[in-house]
Amino acid sequence: MTSSTPILTVEGLRCSIAGQQVVEDVSFKVPSTGITAVLGRNGVGKTSTLRGLMGLIQRRGEIRLAGERIDGLPTYKIVQRGVGYVPEDREVFAKLTVAENLALAERQKNPRREFVAELFPDLVQRRDQMAGSLSGGQQQMVSVARALMNDNRILLVDEPTKGLAPKLVTEVADALAEASKIVPILLVEQNLEVVRRLAHGAIVISGGRVVHTGDATEILDDEDLTRRLLGVHTGAAA
Ligand SMILES: Nc1ncnc2c1ncn2[C@@H]1O[C@H](COP(=O)(O)OP(=O)(O)OP(=O)(O)O)[C@@H](O)[C@H]1O
Ligand SMILES: [Mg+2]
Repeated sequence: MTSSTPILTVEGLRCSIAGQQVVEDVSFKVPSTGITAVLGRNGVGKTSTLRGLMGLIQRRGEIRLAGERIDGLPTYKIVQRGVGYVPEDREVFAKLTVAENLALAERQKNPRREFVAELFPDLVQRRDQMAGSLSGGQQQMVSVARALMNDNRILLVDEPTKGLAPKLVTEVADALAEASKIVPILLVEQNLEVVRRLAHGAIVISGGRVVHTGDATEILDDEDLTRRLLGVHTGAAA
């Protein structure tokens, strides 16, 4: 991890859904540049952690954005402060066109239309196509593009490559690599090849707790740790 001031600091985060605790005690820091990965097996609380950070589920603990507490704020204020969220399963408006999906995401005077168009030439070509008729990978691009329209201070991106064909995994990873040049990203990702390529630091969650933090490559090179905490995938795949 870099030594610059963290953009996000999380201390003792606990989250619950319908009265049941799903995140037990999560603490970590996200550096102000590059991509930080959140790793862990299915159901350990990765998505809940992101949803807790966004104030979408009940949470306790200290969350600081560039040093300022945001854990008491409602979701819309967290969004206004510059936390962009790309949820699991994309959530594009299926019956709206690509252009309409992007237009609805613009919340500032000068949205980054050129940057987004350069990053996703495919979407420019398909601007009049219904988002619901795009491939999974293309829908994922729309979802990431929506978050990039605004000057966010950090993006929280949940499993962007899930269920995509290998070629599209590469395309989404390319887009995230480009995006990370202008905004730091906290990335939940189960494809360890993608993690190896993109992430600097990594946080490993197990049973609702952070059980390991460190350099992403070091974690992935630790066979015992990846087998125990991340399941069957290994860095040697593909
Ligand atoms: N809406 C819900 N109601 C009740 N329990 C839930 C709900 N959503 C998630 N959970 C539970 O919370 C725990 C953490 O789930 P979460 O979705 O955060 O895990 P995850 O690490 O993102 O998993 P995955 O890798 O499958 O995406 C799980 O035990 C899950 O069953
Ligand atoms: Mg999840």
